[in-house]
Amino acid sequence: MDKIRIFGGTPLRGVIPIGGAKNAALALMPACLLTDETLSLSNLPHLVDITTMANLLSQHGVSMSLNGHAANGGHTGRVLELTAANISNTTAPYDLVRKMRASVLVLGPLLARCGQAKVSLPGGCAIGTRPVDLHLKALEQMGARIQVEGGYVVADVPGGRLKGAHVVFPQVTVGGTENTLMAAALADGETVIANAAREPEVCDLAHCLIAMGAKIDGLGSGTLHIQGVERLHGAQYSVLPDRIETGTYAVAAAITRGDIELVGARRDLMQSVEKVLVECGAVIEDTERGFRVCADRTRLTGVDIMTEPYPGFPTDMQAQLMALMATADGASMITETIFENRFMHVPELARMGARVNVHGASAIVRGVPKLSGAPVMATDLRASVSLVLAGLAAEGETVVNRVYHLDRGYERVEEKLAACGARIERIKDGDAAE
Ligand code: UD1
Repeated sequence: MDKIRIFGGTPLRGVIPIGGAKNAALALMPACLLTDETLSLSNLPHLVDITTMANLLSQHGVSMSLNGHAANGGHTGRVLELTAANISNTTAPYDLVRKMRASVLVLGPLLARCGQAKVSLPGGCAIGTRPVDLHLKALEQMGARIQVEGGYVVADVPGGRLKGAHVVFPQVTVGGTENTLMAAALADGETVIANAAREPEVCDLAHCLIAMGAKIDGLGSGTLHIQGVERLHGAQYSVLPDRIETGTYAVAAAITRGDIELVGARRDLMQSVEKVLVECGAVIEDTERGFRVCADRTRLTGVDIMTEPYPGFPTDMQAQLMALMATADGASMITETIFENRFMHVPELARMGARVNVHGASAIVRGVPKLSGAPVMATDLRASVSLVLAGLAAEGETVVNRVYHLDRGYERVEEKLAACGARIERIKDGDAAE
């Protein structure tokens, strides 16, 4: 397995291009199942999770072609055309779903278009049990018959077409809202989704569905009204910039006391993160191409954080901010309210000298003057990147193991950081260097 080696301590200065949002792309791609015409998606990031979704869709019978020219050394300028003219298979197999939970997002579209689907249950993951019960309840309310057999959700729609329903989510669920939204777009009658997720990626999906002919009101609010239509058509859509990638590199600037311009980034998508960074002592300014984050003060101040659904502070930025707080002056209390087991990075950060105590859903971080490099191992995507960030700030050498997590969500991470002066390299599996 590849590793990443970092010699920390260099303030990062330069420019980082921000790619398309992984989590938006993972919802937009299955939307192609809703129409027999072509859905063209541009600004897709080049990531392992996107390839996994492409593999899943192709085994359902979706034909795909990648066109256009790559920009920024990645796939940014490319357009992926997805055509589900004939859905030849409505089963999402365990082998693909277990690799990526977002695979469950094919369930709503398959049920809406084909009236049947068999999708493996994703199972647990490193950050908690993460059930899909709310997705299933919403689809049942819309008339689907659902059973769990042999680890699979086996669903069909008596009469062939889902019906509009009043779905009230007892807790905000991004994936649940997305699955219901896609199902409702082709259902018979009106669906109301109350306590809907307001994440920008959910709005991106809604905008794309509207471009495909769907009738959706209430975008960006907690209540979505969807008037089902008989059929959807093809569309061209550009994925919004990744706010979590943006926030991660903003932390890279702050934690190394550097100065980075984030090109193509949208500041309005990360206001809760900006608030924390500014309270810490970082400075954020608009530029013509995005915005820049700098922290020329030697010491930053600890700030309390609580993760919440959007527009609150994102759980996907919690680990990165913990790395930052580990180097700030004073104490910071970090409370995780979305996932029950999302402090897996704590013992690894502790190996680098961070002082963190976990009490239930909260962690108290007491900043230290300097972290020190160490070999570390990560269990999930955002935990991995928090260790990279800590390594950039630490004295000496850090080796992050299990880099495959990073490749799921960060495109060319070591290249982007190296371009700003980071001493970082990938050690390929099998390389003698250790
Ligand atoms: C999405 C994001 C993930 C992010 C999360 C929260 C994608 C591909 N992933 O994940 O990066 O961390 O939103 O912002 O977009 N829950 C249930 N039952 C359900 C569904 C969810 O109990 O049926 C619970 C989950 O266990 C969790 C909470 O609801 O505690 C929120 O989960 P959800 O918003 O659904 O997260 P995902 O869509 O899986």
